Parts: sequence; C-alpha cells; structure tokens
Amino acid sequence: MTQLGDIPNSLDPKGAGAREIAGLWWLMATLGTIVFLVVIGLLLTAVVRNAHRNRDETIPQLLRDIPEGRPWIWFGGILVPAVIIASVYFFDLRTHSALASASSDNTTVIEVIGHQWWWEVRYPDQEITTANEIHIPVGEPVVIRLRTADVIHSFWVPELHGKMDLVPGQDNQIILQADTAGIYRGICAEFCGRQHAKMQFLVIAEDRGEFAAWAERERQPSFQPDDERLRSGQQVFLGSSCVYCHTVRGTNATANIGPDLTHIASRMTIAAGTLKNNPGNMAAWIVDPQHIKPGNLMPPSSMSGEELQLMLDYIMSLE
Ligand code: CUA
Repeated sequence: MTQLGDIPNSLDPKGAGAREIAGLWWLMATLGTIVFLVVIGLLLTAVVRNAHRNRDETIPQLLRDIPEGRPWIWFGGILVPAVIIASVYFFDLRTHSALASASSDNTTVIEVIGHQWWWEVRYPDQEITTANEIHIPVGEPVVIRLRTADVIHSFWVPELHGKMDLVPGQDNQIILQADTAGIYRGICAEFCGRQHAKMQFLVIAEDRGEFAAWAERERQPSFQPDDERLRSGQQVFLGSSCVYCHTVRGTNATANIGPDLTHIASRMTIAAGTLKNNPGNMAAWIVDPQHIKPGNLMPPSSMSGEELQLMLDYIMSLE
C-alpha cells in the first residue's frame, strides 16, 4: 500500500495486471543474468586457452589459425539465442493477452480524461465527475477508458497495471484490478509539458460497501451552507473568477475548464497530487497557483484576507 509521498514500486504488485508484468520482468532479468554470466565465462575461457595455444610452438601456425569453435557458433550463437528470444516473445504475448482479458457486463466503467496537468475522472453510469482521485471496488476488474483533452499523457499505476497512453483522437482502455484495499499512487508517464511531474493521481481501492457509499455521496449536489458565515463564503466564491472554470453542482458555477469542485473537500490532494488538501495549502493555491505549479491554467486571485478566509471555509465545507 502506498502512503502519500511513497514512491510506488512496480515490482511490488498489488493487482492482476502488475503481477503479470512483474513476473515477465523477473523472467527476463533472470534469463539476461544467466546469459551474461555464461557469455563472460566463455569469453574468459577462450582468452585463457588461446593465450596458451598461441605460445605452443609445437602446433604449426596453420593449425593454430583453424577455428575449432564452429559448433559453438551454431549452438551458442544461433540456436540458444533463438530459443531464448522465442520463449521470451511467447511469454510477452501471454502477458499482453492477460492484460487485455475481457471483463463482464456489469463492470464499473470509469472515464479518465487527461488535461495539462490534471486528471478528470467520470463514472458515466453513476453521473459522477471528480478529479485526480479514482475510487474502485477492491478485487473487481474495472474498465478505465482513457482519452485526452490536449496532448499525449500516459496513465500509470505501477502497483496495479502497466502504462497506457492517452492519445489525441483515440480512445484507449485498460482493465484495472486491485487485490488489496489501499491507496495507490498513479503518475503521468509521458512527458506532457512543463508540469508533467506534477500530474499525479490516487487510486483508492475499497470494499464494495465503502465504494458504494462514496459513490452515493459523490452523486449528491454540493453541500448547501447552513450558517451565515458559510453562506457569505459561498457568495464570495460565486462572485469570484473561480466560476469561469469550475463547477460546483447545485450552484451557478457550471464551467468545466478546471476540476469539478462539488466535493473538493473530500479529496486527499489538490493540484493533481501536488499538495495535501488542507486549508493552508488550499489558501496558498487559490492566492498564487502559478508559484506552486508554474504554467498551469489557473490565474492568481486577488481578494482581501477576510474574503479569502470566508471562501476557504466554504470550499473546505464541500465534502
Ligand atoms: Cu501528463 Cu505527463
């Protein structure tokens, strides 16, 4: 399981896809090591033997030049490599077909759309839109449909599955499965511009009940403020430039350039895994996002300290 900040390890698989890939990796690493040791051994033997033979004056020069290693060339240079490469190719094809294995009809379908530099996450069957955080039921295959709103990105959760590119004009798909409940870090694995490194996400695998409860909460419109202070904060938010880019369902904010904020307070990170989601980081992000993630589309906001505090209280109430 990955805590926030841990580096995910693809050789510590926690899902069916990653296990296939790790198995292939170990097979190839083992074969490669054996081949390397055998070749080095033969090389050293040849050096020692020929040094000895060239000094042996009783053997005529002509005989000394005759190659006695021809069978080695046929056997060790052609036959053995052909067998090794063919078997690695076979296991590679087997891994590919295992990764593409079909899913049943009632599988959860999740659409992931890459943006510079964040991940839009939709559950079309459940009318859920969120960002940078993908909840899945543990032990069940889920279909991840991948597309991009701009350039090529690559979706990679090292402990669960291999990489899959998000290519303009083309829909790709993987089947993700986590065998152990936990939080898995995902990263963009294709250079996509200045903030490529800050394009991360989390996959949260939880049991069926927790997943259903999460989905039920996500489907709801946003929390409606029940006290004066939060209502003022909502007014500051709705009167700010935030609404030109963000949606908070249940309010007049319906733009979809930036991440959906309807349940922003329930997410663990902000700015695609860049910062932990807490009031201090949120305030820093709202005031000067270009300082934290230069080049991203969000402009700085100028407002009084009082307005910022009100808006912050409102945003952190959106669970
Ligand atoms: Cu998106 Cu790199």
